[in-house]
Amino acid sequence: MKNKPRILVTSALPYANGPIHLGHLAGAYLPADIFVRYHRLKGSDVIYICGSDEHGVPIMLRARSEGVSPQEIVDHYHELNKKSFADFGMSFDYYGRTSALIHHQTSQDFFRILDKKGVFVLKSESQLFDPEANIFLADRFVRGECPSCHYLDAYGDQCEKCGASLNPRELINPRSAITDAKPVLKKTAHWYLPLADWQSRLEQWIGSHSDWKPNVLAQIKSWFSDGLKDRAVTRDLPWGVTIPEDVAKAHQINAAGKVLYVWFDAPIGYISATKEWAIAKDDPELWKKYWQDESNRLIHFIGKDNIVFHCLIFPVMLMAHGDYVLPENVPANEFLNLEGNKLSTSRNYAVWLDDYLKKFEADSLRYVLAGNLPETRDADFSWRDFQARHNNELADILGNFINRTLTFAHKYFSGKVPSMAVPDDLDRELIRQIETAPLRLGELIEHYQFKQYVREFMDLARFANKYFNDQQPWKTRDTDPEKCATTIHLCLQTVYTLSVAAEPALPFTARRIWKILNMTDNPLWENAGRLMLEAGQLINEPEILFDKIEDADIEPEIQRLKAAAVPSTEKSTTSETKEIAMDRISFETFQQIELRVATVLEAERVEKADKLLKLQIDLGFEKRQIVAGIAKAYQPEQLIGAKVVVVANLEPTKIRGVESNGMLLAAGDENGNLALLTTDKEIADGSKIS
Ligand code: MF3
Ligand code: ZN
Repeated sequence: MKNKPRILVTSALPYANGPIHLGHLAGAYLPADIFVRYHRLKGSDVIYICGSDEHGVPIMLRARSEGVSPQEIVDHYHELNKKSFADFGMSFDYYGRTSALIHHQTSQDFFRILDKKGVFVLKSESQLFDPEANIFLADRFVRGECPSCHYLDAYGDQCEKCGASLNPRELINPRSAITDAKPVLKKTAHWYLPLADWQSRLEQWIGSHSDWKPNVLAQIKSWFSDGLKDRAVTRDLPWGVTIPEDVAKAHQINAAGKVLYVWFDAPIGYISATKEWAIAKDDPELWKKYWQDESNRLIHFIGKDNIVFHCLIFPVMLMAHGDYVLPENVPANEFLNLEGNKLSTSRNYAVWLDDYLKKFEADSLRYVLAGNLPETRDADFSWRDFQARHNNELADILGNFINRTLTFAHKYFSGKVPSMAVPDDLDRELIRQIETAPLRLGELIEHYQFKQYVREFMDLARFANKYFNDQQPWKTRDTDPEKCATTIHLCLQTVYTLSVAAEPALPFTARRIWKILNMTDNPLWENAGRLMLEAGQLINEPEILFDKIEDADIEPEIQRLKAAAVPSTEKSTTSETKEIAMDRISFETFQQIELRVATVLEAERVEKADKLLKLQIDLGFEKRQIVAGIAKAYQPEQLIGAKVVVVANLEPTKIRGVESNGMLLAAGDENGNLALLTTDKEIADGSKIS
C-alpha cells in the first residue's frame, strides 16, 4: 500500500508592521485553518506553517519615521499577531519569523545554491541614491516636479496630477521622500531571476493543474501572455537578509548594503519555519519529509495579491534549486470589502482582529467570514450581516437545537442518553443525514469550497430543528414514551455529529459541546457519521452557546467605520439634516492641543504653489513661520496685522520644501469657502485658547 501522503499547509506570512485585519483572515488564514483542522480530524499527516514577514521597505520606513529600529517594530507586531491568531483559534503547528537566524541562513544558502547553478543574471546600472540617508531610493521614494504638467509633488513612478507615468530620473529637481536630500546617481549591481527562461516550464507545470481555482488560473495566464520579465532578487537596503559575502566576492561585487529582495526571502520563510518546527519536535531532519519527498502535498493559502509570487516566482526558485516539491495547489482568495468600501489600513478603515476579540467571540467571526469568503469574487463584510447571521443562524438554529435537546434530556431523561426503539420514517431520514452529511461536508472542504461547507453544515442543523418540531417530543412524552426516547436519542446523536462537523469552523464551540457530552477532545471525522453516543451515557448541564448580539454592541463599530470612510466629494446638499458621524475624544485629549492667539507680521505667496501662503507670525513669546493653504481666499496684504488662532504645539514640517512651524486655523465649507478664525476683541499674542 502506498504511504499516506504528508500535507504541508502554509498561509502567507503577514508583514509584522501592523495588526491582522478581517481582509487577512478571509484571504489566507481562516480557509487554511478549516482545511487543516479537517485533515487532523481525518487523521492525515498534516502540518500547518506560518509566521511573520519581517523585511521590506515599509517596515524600514515606518521605523525611521517613528525613530525606532525596524527590529522593535517587528518584535511588537510579531507578538501581537501571534497572540491574536492564537485567540482566533488559528492552529499553526509553528509560527516563525523571518528575522530568525535560521531563516537568514536558509535564505542565504538558497541564494548561494541558485547562484552556483548559474540561475541568476547580474546587471549593473545607475540608480538614484539618497546621500543623507545613505540608501538607494525605490521609485516611490523619489519626488519632484513633473516634466509634463510641472506639478511639484510628483512621485518617481507617476504624477498624481496629470497621470503621466514617469521614470524617477525624469523628475525636475528630484528629492528624496525620506530626507528631502537631492538624490545622486550611483552605479549598483543586482542579481536578477530571468523568468522568461522558465516560462515554458512554468506553463507546462501550470497546464497540469487545470483543477486550480479559475480566478488563480486567469491571473497566471495573463502574466504568461504579457511574457515574463527579469526580476531583481536583491536590493540596496539596510534592512533584510544580507547577501552572502562569498557569493558577492565570486562576482567581484561589494556585498555591503545589499540584501535579498523581501519576496525572495519571505517564501523561504515557510521552509525555515518548518525547520524550526522540526527542531522543536526534537527531530531536526523531519522538515525534509514535508518539503523534499515527491509524494508530499504542498498547499499555499494566500490572497490574490500574492498569486504571482506563489505561482510563478517561488516555484521557479524551487525548480531551479531542485531539491523541493512544488505546490500542489494555491487556492488564492479575492478581496474582502467592508461595509461596501475597500479596506484601507492607512485610513484605519478596517476591522482589526485584536480589537474584535476584545468585544466578541472568535467563533462568531469564524462562522460569518467562512460563510462569506471571497472564494471566487470579492465579498463584503458588514456588521449588520454579522449580527444577523450570528443571531439567526448560530444562536437561533444551531444553538437553539442543541439547547432544547440537552434541556429536554436533562428534564425528562435525568441527564442520560435515552435508548432508541424502532425508528420510524422520519427517524430513518435523520439517521441517513447523520451518515451522509460528514462525507459531503468533507468533500467540500477538500475541494476548497469552505463557504458551501459552512452553509450545508447549517442546513443540517436546520433539518435537525425541523425534526425536533415534527416529532413533537413534548407530546409523545405522554402519548408514546418510546418514541419520545427515540427522538431525543437521535437528537443527541445529531448534536454530536454537528459538533464534530463544526470543529474546523467553530473549534471553540465544538470543544464546549464535547465537554457537555462527555466526549473526547480528539474525535475522528468518520465518527461524525456514526451514532457514537451510548444509551445511558451521562450528559452535563447545558449552557447557552451563543448570546444574542444587540444593536448596541455593533453600533459603535458601524459608526467608527463611517467616520473613517472616504468623505464622498458628491455629498447631496439637498438633504434636510445631515448625519455627521464622529468619534468622541476625551477632554484630556483636547487639552493636548495647544491653541494660541498670534498676529500676522508678514505674508507672501509660495512659489509654484497656488494655494499656499507663507506667514511670519508673532506668538508673543516667539516669532515663527507658518505655511497655510489659504491663498485662494486671502490676498497676502489683507492678512498683515490680523489676529489669528494657531496650533502652537504641532511638530514642525516642510510643505513644498518650506518650513512650517504650527498650523493656522480656518473654517472651510463644502464649496471651498474659507474663513480665518480670529478673536472678537483685542487680546495679547500668545494667549491660550481653552
Ligand atoms: N508579507 C506578504 C504580504 O502580506 C506575504 C508574504 S507570503 C510569503 O503580502 F510567501 F512570502 F511568505
Ligand atoms: Zn504631471
